[in-house]
Amino acid sequence: MGSRLVAMGHYQPSRVLTNDELARMVDTSDEWIRDRVGIASRRIADTETVADMATAAAGKALANSGLTPADIDMLVVATCSSVDRSPNVACRVAAKLGMAAPAAYDLNTACSGFSYALGTVDHALSAGAARNAIVIGAEKLSDFTDWTDRSTCIIFGDGAGAAVVTATTEGEPSGVGPVVWGSVPAKSDAVRIEGWRAYIQQEGQAVFRWATTELAPLALQACERAGVAPEEIAAFVPHQANTRIIDGIVKRLGMPNAIVAKDLVESGNTSAASVPLALSKLVERREVPSGAPVLLFGFGGGLTYAGQVVRCP
Ligand SMILES: CC(C)(COP(=O)(O)OP(=O)(O)OC[C@H]1O[C@@H](n2cnc3c(N)ncnc32)[C@H](O)[C@@H]1OP(=O)(O)O)[C@@H](O)C(=O)NCCC(=O)NCCS
Repeated sequence: MGSRLVAMGHYQPSRVLTNDELARMVDTSDEWIRDRVGIASRRIADTETVADMATAAAGKALANSGLTPADIDMLVVATCSSVDRSPNVACRVAAKLGMAAPAAYDLNTACSGFSYALGTVDHALSAGAARNAIVIGAEKLSDFTDWTDRSTCIIFGDGAGAAVVTATTEGEPSGVGPVVWGSVPAKSDAVRIEGWRAYIQQEGQAVFRWATTELAPLALQACERAGVAPEEIAAFVPHQANTRIIDGIVKRLGMPNAIVAKDLVESGNTSAASVPLALSKLVERREVPSGAPVLLFGFGGGLTYAGQVVRCP
């Protein structure tokens, strides 16, 4: 038994915040942000909550899958920016979409959240604990952004991405490879959203160094565990943190045939939403053939990381 991605969906708020606008708020410039981070603009939510964006993305994924809300018996939302303590975001989404009685929980591993959530869902579906699941990454990081801090406010954005995942039938090959996941407890303070009135704070250079030196071998491990050679990978969808981080990882992967997702140029860093958002757009634009192997790899606050090879829906 295994699982496979059936369809994707995503949602982004309509408000576009450009680098030039940010340069009127803090001491920065379009050139600095493009050069050091690679972001040109990001989307900022207005009245939408994390649950609203998660629901919109899940609704689109569901519509693309051909399944109905009643078919879904498991719903997991990866997020680190939900303000409400209870109900969790997954229960809100289940109610808004009119689902019957899905197992519904949130998971917080910050920017690696989608791959962590997909890992737990794959395990549950493989064990027969559910048949049809939705995995969502959704964030409203603008609620936790200090708009006077130029080292962080230029980076983050809001949005959501979702995948419908079903258990495979007997004899059908699994479409979700084994997850490679972990954390770095010694660097647990490198990215923080702490306290009652919390703002994102980070040791930018420490995160940058870690990401560009430690992650490529872990991403390659995900390929090895899936039995897929790096040359076979059709697309690489890493967490959308910084184009220089992505380029640094790519250089060490040896994946000459892979399209590399760089959705952060227009979306910013949307933490747990960034991987499903970027994958959903690749699928929507039909840039990757259905069934082709795609390497997902999330990393960030915790510090945490997780990745797996999936077959493109
Ligand atoms: C945050 C990050 C973009 C900063 O880039 P950097 O090249 O490391 O920049 P530094 O922090 O060394 O700062 C260099 C200079 O630029 C300045 N600077 C910082 N932000 C700036 C901005 N938005 N505009 C202009 N200058 C800025 C700094 O004050 C510093 O000035 P100084 O030399 O006079 O002290 C980079 O470290 C990064 O992307 N790290 C990873 C963070 C990340 O992805 N976090 C999310 C977790 S997944």
